[in-house]
Amino acid sequence: MLFFLLCAVLIPVSWVILYRLYLHPLADYPGPLIGRITDFYSVYHCLKGDRYLDFLDLHNRYGSIVRYGPNRLSFSTVDALQAIYGSRANTKKAYWYDTMTFYMKVPSTHATTNKVQHARKRRILAQALSDRMVHVYEDGFTKLLKSFLQRYDTPDAEAEKEWSSAVDISHEFMLMCFDSMGSFCFGESFGSLLDPQKAGILETSLEGFRGLNAIGHMPGLSWFQLEAMASSTARALKEYESYAANLALKCVEKFSQKLVNKERLSCVFDILYATSENPGVEGFSLPELQSESSLLVTTGTDTVAGSMANLLFHLLNHPDIMSTLTKEIRETFSDTSEIRLGQKLNSCKYLAACIDESMRLSSVVGGCLMREVGPGGITVDGHLIPQGVDVGVPHHVIMRNPRYYDAPLEYRPQRWLPTETSTEKINIARSAFCPFSIGPTSCVGKTWGLVESKITLAQLLFTYDLREEMTEDERNLSVIQRLKNRERDSVDRFVITSKGPKVRFRSAKSA
Ligand code: HEM
Repeated sequence: MLFFLLCAVLIPVSWVILYRLYLHPLADYPGPLIGRITDFYSVYHCLKGDRYLDFLDLHNRYGSIVRYGPNRLSFSTVDALQAIYGSRANTKKAYWYDTMTFYMKVPSTHATTNKVQHARKRRILAQALSDRMVHVYEDGFTKLLKSFLQRYDTPDAEAEKEWSSAVDISHEFMLMCFDSMGSFCFGESFGSLLDPQKAGILETSLEGFRGLNAIGHMPGLSWFQLEAMASSTARALKEYESYAANLALKCVEKFSQKLVNKERLSCVFDILYATSENPGVEGFSLPELQSESSLLVTTGTDTVAGSMANLLFHLLNHPDIMSTLTKEIRETFSDTSEIRLGQKLNSCKYLAACIDESMRLSSVVGGCLMREVGPGGITVDGHLIPQGVDVGVPHHVIMRNPRYYDAPLEYRPQRWLPTETSTEKINIARSAFCPFSIGPTSCVGKTWGLVESKITLAQLLFTYDLREEMTEDERNLSVIQRLKNRERDSVDRFVITSKGPKVRFRSAKSA
């Protein structure tokens, strides 16, 4: 009996393995043995939190095309970037995105795989996040930023007279960006700078997403109930769902009050709701608004906070670049109140180059944004990829590809400056630059993300001198080794989060 049972399991399993290794349409593409056999390979790296580092390793080992799942290919070229994500790409968001509906009843814009529905939702979201609206939100943000900057205006008498005590800047930026998303999207700061416990929901959501991220890679896993598989993930997601749903309900109530009091519509949610009420527009239903809220609470928090912390890491590790940037900012502005959207901020070309270079080298979106090939297939790098295959270009892999960037592991803002680099080289670098992704599913909050980063960093460097707190051992390492250590300690849960750097502040006036 046991023998028959074993045969009943082993024969089909062996057949699947042999098929995937030798007969599958993707059988000729190189990749790790386990990955070519099972998607558990991706699940493992998602749970471990090192998926983006694994992609770097895979492309180093196997070249520009890697088969990392039975039905999945990863690419590393500009041709692939356009063919997979470009405006005319014959692809759609892959199954992975459907997994998000495990915790919200209807998919948010980000999780919508149906192209027509995605375009409908995105049109509304794009109005709420338009350049014009960014100007409306700027006032509220600069007020918040003022109280954020005041936190470091307290020299630590114990340590050294004029320097503040050291803070983990990743954590500090996380609190600030969380509060900023509160006022920007929902009309009221979440208050976490005053009471950091209020940001507890962020950690809850991130842990929930680590579970979802993993399940999304292996559709078969979703046959089991999430509760049975990972009760802590299920609990975290339920908690997050009800947080976002209540937030949306409160905003709907406030919106009605605003109409009665004839107040200005002043946050993203107001615009989403108002646009939805326009005649002739298939607007967001209440469950959809709740789902969008769940997206907005986190999407502009860990991305912007992580990007700004990465930038400070690079600046603190390159004192010459830090000093050039500080000089540019202090010579352009004469007071923090001047550091706002406008011509002066736009004139800070070195600031823009420092931000771009940090986003290139240390993109906060990890892994590989998966797209499913549509009917008729697509041609990528001269290969015909059949319908149904999941394809993607991992950000770190393309943005460190030596084909597009000299010395790709080095932090060099000058590669983006026409005064220092030829137009031809800049154009090549731009063609592979994709921290916000590209095409119709790219980041719809890009303008705000960049505005928030620029104003914050310019005000921070205008107000303070910064110094990194390091151990003697860390000080003895090369800059690239410090970067590698930071990456080794980071966690990729779709968005990559890192700790530190630990920063001390000194008022620029006392220098
Ligand atoms: C430095 C900051 C940011 C980075 C690097 C970033 C990056 C990205 C990337 C790579 C995507 C594509 C994800 C995918 O295809 O699965 C994306 C999508 C998205 N981002 Fe951002 N983002 C940032 C800030 C923001 C902000 C501030 C907001 C909102 C205010 C935002 C809202 C969104 C939304 C709603 C989507 C989904 C778009 C769609 O599916 O059409 N992001 N972002």
